Amino acid sequence: MAGKEEERSAAEEKKAEIKWNEETQRFETEDKEAYLQYHLLQIADGKTAMDMVHTFVPRSKRGMGLAAKLCDAAFDHARSRDLSVIPTCSYISDTYIPKNPAWNSLVYKDEPKSSM
Ligand code: COA
Repeated sequence: MAGKEEERSAAEEKKAEIKWNEETQRFETEDKEAYLQYHLLQIADGKTAMDMVHTFVPRSKRGMGLAAKLCDAAFDHARSRDLSVIPTCSYISDTYIPKNPAWNSLVYKDEPKSSM
């Protein structure tokens, strides 16, 4: 039976497989072959958003949840820095967010200003 410490280190190891590359604005696997590309944008009220423009996983590694792991890391990052998210990538808008609806609260919605 796995002890609490082993469980914790297994969870940390799983998370550690995805790295934040601040210079290239990517979350990526250690071999850099799978990645989520974002750009930082200024939005209303002096806030910043992460425009998540592209997710890529090599053909041989698809269908195993790797893109979802890249998104988990990117959304965690956005939440911890109080950034909004613009889900430009169709995988994120059409698959990842519908499966993880709690992240909807981070999605930037450009609401029209009231004239009142
Ligand atoms: N748009 C929306 N959803 C997509 C998709 C796309 N372009 N490509 C695959 N999916 C869905 C699959 O239908 C599958 O759905 P299911 O779980 O309901 O069957 C799910 O994504 C698989 O999720 P996951 O295993 O986390 O994804 P993955 O590791 O296989 O990677 C991509 C998914 C899209 C990143 C990968 O197929 C890829 O690199 N494709 C080429 C680049 C691309 O089209 N990127 C997305 C647009 S920016």
